[in-house]
Formats: sequence, structure tokens, C-alpha cells
Amino acid sequence: MANESRESGMSKTSKVCQSVTGMNDVLPAEAPRWRALEAAFRAACARYGFGEVRTPVCEYTELFTRGIGEETDVVAKEMYSFEDRGGHSLTLRPEGTASAVRAYLEHTVGNTEPVARWYYVGPMFRGERPAKGRYRQFHQVGAEVYGDGSAAVDAELIDLAYGFVQSLGISQCKVRLNSLGSGDTKRRYAAALQAYYTPLRDKLSEDSQRRLTVNPLRILDSKSPEDVALRGGAPHLLAVLTDEDRQHFDKVCAILTRLGTPFEVDPTIIRGLDYYSRTIFEISETSGRLGAQDALGGGGRYDTLISDLGGKPTPAVGFAFGIERLLLAASDEALRADSAPVCAVLAVDRTDADLVHAEALAIAKELRSQGLSVVVDTRFGKLDKQFRHAERAGAVAAVIVGKQEIDEQTVKLKDLVARQERSVGRDVLAENVRALLQASRSGSPTE
Ligand code: HAM
Repeated sequence: MANESRESGMSKTSKVCQSVTGMNDVLPAEAPRWRALEAAFRAACARYGFGEVRTPVCEYTELFTRGIGEETDVVAKEMYSFEDRGGHSLTLRPEGTASAVRAYLEHTVGNTEPVARWYYVGPMFRGERPAKGRYRQFHQVGAEVYGDGSAAVDAELIDLAYGFVQSLGISQCKVRLNSLGSGDTKRRYAAALQAYYTPLRDKLSEDSQRRLTVNPLRILDSKSPEDVALRGGAPHLLAVLTDEDRQHFDKVCAILTRLGTPFEVDPTIIRGLDYYSRTIFEISETSGRLGAQDALGGGGRYDTLISDLGGKPTPAVGFAFGIERLLLAASDEALRADSAPVCAVLAVDRTDADLVHAEALAIAKELRSQGLSVVVDTRFGKLDKQFRHAERAGAVAAVIVGKQEIDEQTVKLKDLVARQERSVGRDVLAENVRALLQASRSGSPTE
């Protein structure tokens, strides 16, 4: 992104013209890839029957502390929280799930739609240390299903997520799958972890010593080297699943196999947010080009979050991907944007500048009304320079407007690809420009 390679041509002390650390601009040259990726996600979601939800970028802080969990890194260390003028604590959303559930409950969607399928696209905020693929404002595409607790939905969502990644030309990736079990299993697993870690307490990081009593599962998610070193001997979740949880998990695996969606079972993944139960999964890029930030996305089931936030018990499952990471991994062919070819209208004669400007704009307006994309150059520079600027703006044809042309009701039309110029009557200009733009698209000569 633009800011990552920013030239420091300005004073180090002034921040007036610097974006906030970890928050990046997307300039017009990069935006087509973003648009293509978002369009691919929207199209994939539409094929699976999902509708878009758009929620505000901030919520009352309590939604995230209660929804995501106080002991998670996201809540404990990374939230952008501030007080508004009314003294309420607000937080820029660090993820989309809690906000979507809030909207689902606030609009009592469960009363009218037994199963709701939602997707979202937008910025999220986490105060992490910026690195390649890790930002403080980043963007996610995500999807959630409310009201269906079956293993089939888990498999369908993973299939949607995997198919989407494939459609971006990311062939080197893998889906890892695990189950956290439901209520009782999670509690029993927490007890098993406590039993394992208590004798090792002094070797744990300071944070994890605290987690040991409050939320031992979070020790498995810690990045501190001391904690990582002890992880190998920790009990595995899959070993403590109840029969029902095990059946659910086996069914997810069986359906994924039937759908031809590759996955591997990985009992070490636990995800960084507290609301999960049963199926959890992560999709990571495996070529190494993303470095340490190779997690493209992840998600899972969160069957108690809706009731924890005050709703009727409603099963739910979802996932989210980081757009920046997908863009780093995606192939250019998959995201090739089909941008419309452009025509430039060049005002070239300053002897009657006001008249030429007015006519140049009138011609541009007429062409645009025919659905053509037009940029106008009103600067009266050297013609060669004007051509070069037009080409840099993506123009494949130039319409040259001067005093003489206006008097004669003609213009000069230059094919910037074939480098040929001819005089064209105003009444047939639009059709001639259209022919040039179309020819540039198909790559064939016009005459
Ligand atoms: P998450 O694993 O925290 O899950 O985030 C999903 C993805 O967002 C990550 O895999 C990563 O690609 C991207 N991401 C996270 N933090 C950053 C960052 N600081 N910079 C760049 N990219 C980042 C969730 O957010 C859950 N809400 C997913 C979910 C939906 N679970 C159920 N439904």
C-alpha cells in the first residue's frame, strides 16, 4: 500500500501530512485490485444466498469486551477506545462478528428469518505493531450464518471460504480444522490445561501466569517464546470432546471430503477470540511470501455468543479474511480489473481560452452522456506533453479542440495507439470515439 513505501520528503516532526501509523491510503492505481477482490467476494456470497450487512465503524465498548472476551489480546491490548462527548466509551470495531450480532439482535431478525445469512466488507481497527500484512486499520470480508447449528452449515461456509481463496488464484494455501467442543468440553479442557500448566507456572510469561487462573485457553494463543516452548506437551482438545461434539466434527470433515474441499485436522489451533465453540478453522498461505502474517482468514462456530449478549439461544457460525493479506497473495490475473478505456479532450488554443474551455467541456459532456469515459486537459500546454499526460491517464484516444475547430464545427481525433490523426465532424464524433475505444479493448485496428 501507498504509505508503506512513503518517501520521507517532509519534516520528521510534523505529522500534518502523514497518515496515522499502521493506517494506509489506497491510491487510484491500486484501487482496481481492491474493487476486483471485493466484487469477487460479493459475487461468491450472492451465489451462496448471503445478503450484505453494513454496521457502523464503532460500537459501545462493552459489546466487544463482553463479546470477544476480556482476556483476548484484541480486547486487552489492541482496542481503539475513546470517550464520546456524552461520556460513553466507544471502540472502533476490531472485527465484524460482534457488530453483526448486535445488529441481528437489535433488529430482532431471528423473529422473522429462521436462518439469516449475512456478509460484510469494511475497515477494522486493532492497535497491533505494524508489519507486512499487519496494520492498525485493516479491512475484512466476512460472512456469518445465524439460526442453523448443523455441521452442514460449517462445511458449506468453509467451502465458500476456500472456493473464494481459490478464485483469487491463491493455490498455495491450506485449511486447518479443529473443534473446541461446546460448553462443558471447553470447561473440561480449561481444567486439563490448568492441570498441565500449573506445575510449569514459573516458566510461563507474566501474561500467561495470569491467564492460567482466568482463561487458560488463551495461553495456547500466546506469542511469547516461553509459552510457545511449553505448548508441545499440552493436552489436545480433540481428545476431550464429548460424543456429540465428536459427531458434529466428524460430520463437518465428511461433508468437506464429499465437497472436495481439502483440509487438515490441526488440534493446536484455538483462534484468538473467546466466543468460539465446536468447529474452528483457519486458512493460511503456504508459499512463505506473506512471512509471519500468513493467516489469510479464519472463523468458526459461536453458538453461545447471541445468548451471552442477551438474545435467545441461537447457533451461529462465520469467518473473516483480511483483504490486505489476500491482496498480497492473490494473482494479478485473478484480479485484473476491467477498467473502461478513456478518451482525452485536449484544449489546445489559448487565443480564445474561455471559448475553447467551454467547448472542450461541452464536447466532454456530450461524449459522457453517451456512456464514454472522458478526461479533459484544460492547461494549454505543449501538444506533445498533453498527449503524454493523456496516455498516462489511460487515454487511448484524444479529441483536440482549438478555435479553428470550433469555427468549423469539427475536432481533430487522434488514435493514441496507432498514432493517426484525422478531422472529424462534431455530429459524428461520439460514434468515432466509441469505435476507437472499442478497438483498443479488443486490440484490433479500426480501419
Ligand atoms: P480473526 O482471525 O481475528 O477473526 O481475523 C480474521 C483475519 O483478519 C485474519 O486472518 C487476518 O487475515 C485479518 N487480520 C486480523 N488482524 C489483522 C491486522 N492487524 N492487520 C491485517 N489483517 C488482519 C475475526 O476477526 C473473526 N471475527 C472471524 C469470524 C467471523 N469468526 C466468526 N465469524
